[in-house]
Amino acid sequence: MSNSVLTGIRCNAVPHIGNYLGAFKPMADNLKGLPVDKKFFMFIPDLHSFTTPIDHTQLYPNTIYNLQSYIAAGVDPSRENTILYRQSRVPAHSELMWILSCFSYMGELKKMTQFKEKSEKSESVSSGLFIYPVLMAADILLYNIEYIPVGDDQKQHLELARDVAIRMNNRFSEVIGKDLFVVPKPWTEQLANMEVDEGIRIRSLKNPEAKMSKSILDPSGTISLQDDPKAAAKKIMSATTDSIGIINWDWKEQPGITNLLQLAYLLENKSKDEIVKVWQGQTRYGDLKKHVAGLVEGFLVNLQNKIQATNQNEVEKILANGEIKANLIANETLQRVQKGIGLRN
Ligand code: TYM
Repeated sequence: MSNSVLTGIRCNAVPHIGNYLGAFKPMADNLKGLPVDKKFFMFIPDLHSFTTPIDHTQLYPNTIYNLQSYIAAGVDPSRENTILYRQSRVPAHSELMWILSCFSYMGELKKMTQFKEKSEKSESVSSGLFIYPVLMAADILLYNIEYIPVGDDQKQHLELARDVAIRMNNRFSEVIGKDLFVVPKPWTEQLANMEVDEGIRIRSLKNPEAKMSKSILDPSGTISLQDDPKAAAKKIMSATTDSIGIINWDWKEQPGITNLLQLAYLLENKSKDEIVKVWQGQTRYGDLKKHVAGLVEGFLVNLQNKIQATNQNEVEKILANGEIKANLIANETLQRVQKGIGLRN
């Protein structure tokens, strides 16, 4: 079904249920169908974590917590070809980023929604925030990856990685007699690989026009993986909906209700159509909320127990081992690129 896969989650804050459903779960689901010889990369893009202001004392504990949650989500670190690592421990990421930045255009980066939104709100955004999609392209291209399970908000970044890879292959492949990069699959194929028909975007429970976000101060709209399960259920019960009075899958007119349906189908491991069939046309929003609140509470109890059962020392050993493997693969790609562009004979 799928070639080697890779994904990453920043350690700028504790992950929320959107991160889990948008990235951890599809990644763990991918692993189930992955042949033993295919590589499975799950990394912490720690250099990306301070493109926006953060509490730097929390970087390390968040890194370990993220890895514990990967494992709790079903990522088996003992599988031979599963590689877990931190971006900052593989210097080739920063080196390739520089090279790629010379083959990507200001116009492309200015179009990125995340940069546009954040720079409209504040004048003092960092240049790191502007160039960060190029670092993300390096994260992917270094490991020869076709499939990258991510939430809907990363679509533009994946497209940039594809565009730069194609552009550089066209220009330099002849020099080394092979492509410089494996080109990531287009978005529609990424969705098919995640077995969804639209990108996953969990919305804020309080403001369902916006996505649930780690970096926005919206505690009542966000379900953190560390929330008390009963308190999280209460957040669902008081989620913003609408006054239409009939349950429909409709992001435009009923984003709050559609968000609850989305949570239900992902947490129940069902298809969107199955869930829509059950709830479409019903009129009691309270019933849907109760149902989703129960799912969220059960999900958090289960996940938090599994996270507690993982051992921090083990996680550190897993990282050290993964970082040796990641450096070998990344350096091989970097040297191929250096040869292609004339830095090496
Ligand atoms: P980050 O840390 O913001 O988010 C991690 C993952 O969670 C997904 N996600 C969501 N999915 C559904 N609903 C939401 N509300 C939601 N919020 C976040 C994101 O799409 C992502 O998959 N740039 C990335 C990290 C990264 C990366 C990479 C990912 C750096 N290099 C290479 C894949 C491959 C980011 O900011 O993720």
